Amino acid sequence: MCGIIGYIGNQNATPLILEGLKKLEYRGYDSAGIAVFGDNSIDIVKQKGNLSALESRLEGMHLEGQIGIGHTRWATHGEPSEANSHPHLGGKERIAIVHNGIIENYRQLTEQLESKGITFTSETDSETIAQLAEYYYDGDIVSTSIKVANRLEGSYALGILSLDDPDMLVALRKDNPLIIGISDIGNFIASDVPAILKHTNQVYYMEDKEIAVLKGDSVEFFNFDGEPIQKELETITWSLDSAEKGGHPHFMFKEIMEQPQALEDTIQSTLYDSENKRVLESLDFSNFNKVVITACGSAYNAGVVGKYVIERLCRVTVEVELASEFRYKDPIVDDKTLVILISQSGETADTIAAMREAKTRGAYTLSIVNVVGSTISKEADACLFTAAGPEIAVATTKAFSTQLVLLYLLAFQLAEKLGSQTPEVLSELRSEVAALPGKVQEILDQVDTVQKYAASCVNCKSIFFIGRNIDYAIALEGSLKLKEISYIHSEAYAAGELKHGTISLIEDDTLVVAISTSQKLFDKTMSNVEQVISRGAKVLLIGNCPCGNTSDKLSCIALPQCSELISPSLSVIILQLFGYYAAANKGLDIDKPRNLAKSVTVE
Ligand code: F6R
Repeated sequence: MCGIIGYIGNQNATPLILEGLKKLEYRGYDSAGIAVFGDNSIDIVKQKGNLSALESRLEGMHLEGQIGIGHTRWATHGEPSEANSHPHLGGKERIAIVHNGIIENYRQLTEQLESKGITFTSETDSETIAQLAEYYYDGDIVSTSIKVANRLEGSYALGILSLDDPDMLVALRKDNPLIIGISDIGNFIASDVPAILKHTNQVYYMEDKEIAVLKGDSVEFFNFDGEPIQKELETITWSLDSAEKGGHPHFMFKEIMEQPQALEDTIQSTLYDSENKRVLESLDFSNFNKVVITACGSAYNAGVVGKYVIERLCRVTVEVELASEFRYKDPIVDDKTLVILISQSGETADTIAAMREAKTRGAYTLSIVNVVGSTISKEADACLFTAAGPEIAVATTKAFSTQLVLLYLLAFQLAEKLGSQTPEVLSELRSEVAALPGKVQEILDQVDTVQKYAASCVNCKSIFFIGRNIDYAIALEGSLKLKEISYIHSEAYAAGELKHGTISLIEDDTLVVAISTSQKLFDKTMSNVEQVISRGAKVLLIGNCPCGNTSDKLSCIALPQCSELISPSLSVIILQLFGYYAAANKGLDIDKPRNLAKSVTVE
C-alpha cells in the first residue's frame, strides 16, 4: 500500500529514486511522483498512472539534485490524480513529504489548518502532514517533525524534505514499514528491501515512533521525545537477482518456477541446525489447549490447510479466523491459546492488529513470516521464517507454498510432543515433505498441460472450485488466485455444499475445477462431479484421476503420488499455473492486477 523511497548522497537522486520506485511498484500503481532538492526550490513531478507514465513525463526534464524522495501510490483518500499524488508540498512550498499509511484524524487537522487560512490542494489525508509541518516549522526540521508526529493519529512511514534544512532527509515511522539503507554512494530510506538492494545490503529497520535523520555520510536515530537511540545495522541475505525478473515474462511466473528452491530452502532452514528449528523445539505445547490461526487472503487460506493438518495429526482444536474479523470480535483467547499469525510481508495491518489483540489477552503468538525485520516477525513472541526470498508479484505463490511447509513441520512437531502420532508415521510424513521440491519440479516441467486447460476458460464468466476437507482448503486458494489476476469471477465450495444452493448457477459449459486427493473421499467428490456434469458443467479434475474415464465433459490433471495431507502443496501449483495462464491468455497485467497492492498496510 504505497511505496516510498528517499536518497541523500553524492549522486543525482532522480534515477536512483525512479529505479527504487520500480521495485516498489507492487505496493501501488495508481500514480507516482518524485521531489528533488533543486538550487533554491523543491522540484516536484507527479503523474497519474503507473511508473512508466511518470518516466515518460520526466523525459527531457532536468530534474537534478542530490537529495530526493519518491512515492508510488495505492489510493485511499482521493481518486488517483495528479493533485492527489505524492510528494505533497506545504502551501509555502518549503516542506515536501511522501507518506505510506493513513492519517485517521486528518479531517480535524485540516479544519484547524484551514481555519488559520491554509489552503489545501488535494483530497488526501497525506497533504495534512506537509501543511502541518510548515505550520509548526521552528527552524529545525527534526523537532518540527516530532511535533507533527505527536499530532498525527493513524499509521505512517514518512520521508520529509525541508528547503531550510538542505543537507538532510528525515524519516519517521509508526505502524508502516521503513528501512534505512547505508551505501557507498549515500543513504536511502525505503518501504522495502528490493528498492535499495542494488546499492546496499546494509540496513537499519526502523521501529515504531522512531525518527531517522539522514545526511550524505551519516544517519542518526531519535525517539519521539527527541532522545538519541542506538540501532543495529543488519545485513540482508537476499541476492539482487532474486528481486529481478531474470528473463521471465512476469514476476509471478518466475516466482512459481522458483518454488522448488524456496521449498528446499525452507525445509533445510527448519529441519537442520537453524533458528526455525530452535523455535519449533522450544515451543511448549503442554501450555496450550487451543490453537487459533489468523491471517488475511492467501495466508488465511494457508491457515485453513494448516487447520486440517494440525487437527488430523494432533487431535487439537484449531480455529482459523480472518484477521480483519478476529481483531474486532472480542476473541476467546487467553494464556492457554497458541495464536499463529501467517503473513508474507509481516506488515498486513489487520494481521498486526490481530496479533496485538491476541497478545493483550495473554495468548502466546507464533508468526510465520517471509520478510525479516517486519513488524509481525519482531512483535510476535516467536517467529518461523519462510525462506521464499523476495516476492514481488502481487499474487502470492512461493510464499504461500513455503507457509504450507512450515505449517506441516509445525504440526509434526506438535504431534511428536503430544505423542498423537507414532514416530514411524511422522518420519514418513517428514520424508514426504523433504520430497516436495522434486515433485513440484515434476509438475513445473509440464506447464504446457495446464496452459492448455487455462486457454479454454478465457471467456468463462464464472468458475467454481470444489473439494472436500483439505482439498476444499486448497480450492479456496485456487479460486482467489484465479479471480485476483484474471478478473474471472470464481468461488470455492466444499464439494458437498454445492447442492444446497450454488448448483443453481451451473449451466451449459460452466467450468468446475474439482480437487480430489483423498482416496477415502474420492467417490463422494466424484458424485458431486457427476451432479454438475449432468447439469451441463465441464469439469477439470485435479488429483487422483479415474483411469480412462475422461470425456469431453471431464478432463484430468494427475498429481505426483503423495499422501492426502501433503497434497495441497502439489495441487496448489496446478492452481497457480491455471490462474496465471488464464490471466496471460487475456493479456492482463499479471504482476499488477487492478485495484490491488501487495502489502495491505491499511485497514
Ligand atoms: C493473494 C495475496 C493476498 C495476501 C494477503 C496477506 O495472492 O497475496 O491475499 O495473501 O494480502 O498478505 P500477507 O501475507 O503479506 O499478510
